[in-house]
Amino acid sequence: MLTQEENDRLTRVGPGTPMGNLMRCYWHPVAAKAQLLERGGVMPVRLFGEDLVLFRDGMGRLGLVEDRCAHRRVALGCGYAAPHGVRCPYHGWTYDVTGQCVDQPGEPAGSTFKDKVKINAYPVQELAGLIFAYLGPQDRPLPLLPRWDRLVWPNVYRVIGFIKIPCNWLQCMENTPDPVHTEYLHGQFFKQWMDKNGVTDQRMRKLADGFATHFIKHDYEIGKYGIDRRWLLEGQTGDKDTWGVGLPLVFPDIHCTSGSGRHTFGWRMPIDDVTTMEVFVRGFDPGPGVEVPVQDPVPFVEIEMVDDAGRFTALDAITGQDVMAWVSQGPICDRTKERLADTDRGIILYRKQLFEQLARVEAGLDPINVFRDPAENECIDLPVPWDRGYAWGYGKDGSYVTGSVTAADPLPAHLKAEIEALYQKASSLRDPQLARGA
Ligand code: FES
Ligand SMILES: [Fe+2]
Repeated sequence: MLTQEENDRLTRVGPGTPMGNLMRCYWHPVAAKAQLLERGGVMPVRLFGEDLVLFRDGMGRLGLVEDRCAHRRVALGCGYAAPHGVRCPYHGWTYDVTGQCVDQPGEPAGSTFKDKVKINAYPVQELAGLIFAYLGPQDRPLPLLPRWDRLVWPNVYRVIGFIKIPCNWLQCMENTPDPVHTEYLHGQFFKQWMDKNGVTDQRMRKLADGFATHFIKHDYEIGKYGIDRRWLLEGQTGDKDTWGVGLPLVFPDIHCTSGSGRHTFGWRMPIDDVTTMEVFVRGFDPGPGVEVPVQDPVPFVEIEMVDDAGRFTALDAITGQDVMAWVSQGPICDRTKERLADTDRGIILYRKQLFEQLARVEAGLDPINVFRDPAENECIDLPVPWDRGYAWGYGKDGSYVTGSVTAADPLPAHLKAEIEALYQKASSLRDPQLARGA
């Protein structure tokens, strides 16, 4: 249970709030490059309660600026890409990647007024097909964009996903130090839902059976990059997998899983106090002897899990079940009324770490996972509890049951077809200039 003041301290992310200041110490993914190209090079984005516009100018430079034109406050997200910046649709004022106004077509020839007009701009960088933004303090050297292993492993098919979730970021993230929920939500509840809806698909049934496997034990500790989580299911041995190796919650808002030959690395990114964007990069290991083509841009999918009427539309998917749980906790979960139990040990530790890191930021220090040494950032290795390609989704007999990727069984055909279709779509967005290597 938290006091109202503590709950506000952990959940509110707008400008000037303690958690907003902590979040702004980290690079966050605001869009996929393919998404920006599909939208013609100008795309409104919202992060930590701020409306911004992401753009790619005619020279291929990426920019992120505040969404309001300095002239008469029209949304630049309605504008279009110009050779040297983003152009406002109303009178054509144009802003470059530094936020400097570089064109005011209606002003008299020779006017220097544009030189006096500048709007807020933020640094952006690309990695793994995503465009990352840094909204942190501009008076200190820029931290490095972290090169987490799942983002830089070679020879992996990648797909980027976006799920917009109508609730506060923390209840999404508190799902991660709570692996025990899988037994019920993705196991028992899922089976009950399939019964009710007449679902007989054997693959889904086996998946739910696997998730319903009982937890023998689970444990948590503060680790190098966040909260180290370990658990052991019935039928598993204790010397490997999720008990012997574990999987971290990567501080402050990153969820990392492996399973079915998929390695998912994703952010529960606060759009504002009551909206979260789950952004994930899912890597598919094709198995030995398969060469993955260069993916530029990396394909993306936008997935709806709650419709405009508030109905949960993806309860046949694991994440759709999670989203139901999170959204049903309310726009901001009222933690003054909760009753934490033994299964919440991981959540209690995660909140402790959040409070500790908030205090560091308030003392003018970097929180954890802010990297400034390039040698440390070549590839930041996180634990891999399964051999790459090993699957989760255990049956009662301890065998894995989902479409796994192993040496004997490279990427399953249905998965390969899905990824290739997405890849073809993304390739069609390729910038001809970039394709020539210009
Ligand atoms: S409002 Fe943008 S140019 Fe006039
Ligand atoms: Fe879950």
